Amino acid sequence: MNIGIIGSGELGSLLASKFVKLGYSVSIANSRGPASLKQLAGEIGAEAATVEEAAQNKEVIIIALPQKSIPDLPKGLFEQLPEDVVIIETGNYYPNIRDGHITELDKSGIDSLWVQQQLGFPVVKVFNSILATSIKDLGRPKGEKGRIAIAVSGDNLKSKDVVFKLVDELGFDSFDIGPITQSWKQQPGSSIYCRDIDLGELKKRVGAMGTVWPDMRDQILGQRTTWEALMITDYPAYLKELKD
Ligand SMILES: NC(=O)c1ccc[n+]([C@@H]2O[C@H](COP(=O)([O-])OP(=O)(O)OC[C@H]3O[C@@H](n4cnc5c(N)ncnc54)[C@H](OP(=O)(O)O)[C@@H]3O)[C@@H](O)[C@H]2O)c1
Repeated sequence: MNIGIIGSGELGSLLASKFVKLGYSVSIANSRGPASLKQLAGEIGAEAATVEEAAQNKEVIIIALPQKSIPDLPKGLFEQLPEDVVIIETGNYYPNIRDGHITELDKSGIDSLWVQQQLGFPVVKVFNSILATSIKDLGRPKGEKGRIAIAVSGDNLKSKDVVFKLVDELGFDSFDIGPITQSWKQQPGSSIYCRDIDLGELKKRVGAMGTVWPDMRDQILGQRTTWEALMITDYPAYLKELKD
């Protein structure tokens, strides 16, 4: 399977290296062009690509960008894409410390619904609610006690099946949150965000959130704002909060 990754930062490069090791053919792109990626791509065994190349002739395309960069992607990038291509969206929206406020996104408050609208193609949201360091070190064989579970959401069931397989190969369980309109459950500020919990605990916490976004919106977005402040002033304390 051919995988294109747009974004070569902490998450994009980690996923590229993991998927190469799993035997996939991986192209990786950033904003500065393939020359800037030659060394990284060589080290991990991926192909350095332009953004356009990373989106061409791929079965899976992973978007690993800050939310503020989504509108900067080339217009019509996914216009001619076959329907069965899987676009994975890994992003989180941090308006106060990184992305600035995006009016349209603030209105709905559902990060990946906005991304999906921007891209004009259905996305599967996954890998946003686990730290790259956890993906790197904490994968376990299927069935092992305490295996970490990752939330997945999206409207296309076939695409989600592809994602479930990839998540399993990386060493994690998946939990299907539902359609992209329910993806707020895995956003920054939620009780399952980057917690490194197993499937039983993940299901319990997702169940406790209910399904009505307006009921949870203030709590989740308020917690996100608190975390944003903590990330700047005391990152270790933020990481500790995730464990509690
Ligand atoms: N790091 C984590 O542990 C983690 C975990 C889960 C989710 N996430 C989320 O995943 C996303 C990426 O996180 P990250 O930590 O990997 O970020 P990062 O280290 O800051 O990397 C961002 C990458 O995006 C690229 N980029 C920016 N604008 C672009 C554009 N217009 N076209 C192509 N590439 C562009 C950058 O390329 P240049 O350097 O060339 O500009 C860089 O390679 C974020 O939304 C983050 O919240 C991160």
